[in-house]
Amino acid sequence: MTAPDEILTRLQRLRAGDAPTHGGRVLSYVYDSGRPELDELAERAAALARPLNGLDPTVFPSIAAMERDLIAFARRSFHGGGSVVGSVTSGGTESCLLAVKTARDLWRRAHPNRAHERPRLVAPQTAHAAFQKAAGLFDLQFDPVPCRADGGVDAAAMIDRMGDDVALVVVSAPAYPTGELDPIAPVAAAAADRGISCHVDACFGGFVLPWWPELPAWDFRVRGVTSLSADLHKFGYAPKGVSVLLHRGRRRHRAQFFATTRWAGYPVVNPTLLGSRSASPTAAAWAIVQHLGSRGYAELTGSIVRAASGIRSTVQAIDGLRVWGDPVGPALALVADTAVPADRRVDPHHLADALTAHGWKIQHQPGFVQADGTRLPRSAHLTLTPVLEAGLDDFLASLSAAADAVRGRPAADPRVLRGALRALGYGPGGRIPSPSAAWRLLRLAGAGRVSADQPLATLMALIEALPAEVAETLLIELLARHSEP
Ligand SMILES: Cc1ncc(COP(=O)(O)O)c(C=O)c1O
Repeated sequence: MTAPDEILTRLQRLRAGDAPTHGGRVLSYVYDSGRPELDELAERAAALARPLNGLDPTVFPSIAAMERDLIAFARRSFHGGGSVVGSVTSGGTESCLLAVKTARDLWRRAHPNRAHERPRLVAPQTAHAAFQKAAGLFDLQFDPVPCRADGGVDAAAMIDRMGDDVALVVVSAPAYPTGELDPIAPVAAAAADRGISCHVDACFGGFVLPWWPELPAWDFRVRGVTSLSADLHKFGYAPKGVSVLLHRGRRRHRAQFFATTRWAGYPVVNPTLLGSRSASPTAAAWAIVQHLGSRGYAELTGSIVRAASGIRSTVQAIDGLRVWGDPVGPALALVADTAVPADRRVDPHHLADALTAHGWKIQHQPGFVQADGTRLPRSAHLTLTPVLEAGLDDFLASLSAAADAVRGRPAADPRVLRGALRALGYGPGGRIPSPSAAWRLLRLAGAGRVSADQPLATLMALIEALPAEVAETLLIELLARHSEP
């Protein structure tokens, strides 16, 4: 047997290779409040709940008590009245999956003679990819609505897609790729008029927007909003594994559940996708919400508001770079300023790579051709967390220096590899690379090993240039190889 100390030393050594989770230097994935006491509180609460099984809150009523408090806090924050009820889930993706499953089941119930049909899920192209996953899993047709080139969502384009075969319309508050708030009121009202469910995906911004100044109504105040998701493991500042999904009305909420007495074992009733599940993330989130309350969240949001404003004015002064669209809340994306000549433009992916040398990580988002042929620009996403305010001057100086270093450098060009792939017959309607072929291609592209501080501009350019089926196969191979023994 290996001694516990030795095992933990090994884990510490492994952890040293990870991107930093605290300090605000990674502007995606992690949400640092800048208050270490919150992490400590979460840790202690999680430890207390560790032995529980969230499968059955009647056996472990402490779980039900914590869930009641979390749902009550979320309902108040999002202006839901007494008819708004919901569940604690394991994260944003699970909340989105369940919102889709609920809407599909309600649609099927309302259309008993159309069991053979696959209803549509209408969402802007900036809606989180979790909705594509949900459509696939729950057998709906995903019907993406192209955005404007500035990343904004056109309400009329969304409303145009609404028909009696639509089970769900999705809007975001805000959308992750752009940080923009979708036109929730007109879309939700049109959906209500047609009897269509409308989900507000506030997974990302849900625990920031209630305290953000001067926003239009985006939550249960809006007529027609039937469900809303918000992640406690993002701007709720809880450790990973916890989100909430709220519904307007018990009938809708109950459609989320699975129950069966038709097997040989115990009666099963699950509000969420998993069976046995950890109660630790719920306990951690519960403790943080108790500690911060609305006032605490308002203070933390204040730091993000100031950081966002500082970044926007600095970017305005950087030649060749600009903020994409008109973000509100805790995210924004940077794009090259196409109004200036090419030799003055700042490619956001080269910028992201250059920032790594300064110790900052922003997230590459490939450009994308929408169903109507319009191209959304490649961009770099920034998630702004409260801790960033303290290091803001340093970040802004790094941003300006990195922009100076890459200004005028053309985007990475994967033409050779794209040509080779086409010659091999991979592409739309063609072959999909096998796992070994995909791995060879990745290594050929220099993307066989991707580490926390590796430049990614070439891999991203490859994703932009390849047919989606081929790019997706390569990405699966890349990640699968990472964990292969
Ligand atoms: C708007 C939005 N919805 C859903 C998700 C999915 O959340 P998770 O990664 O917790 O599954 C995200 C994640 O960033 C998001 O930004």
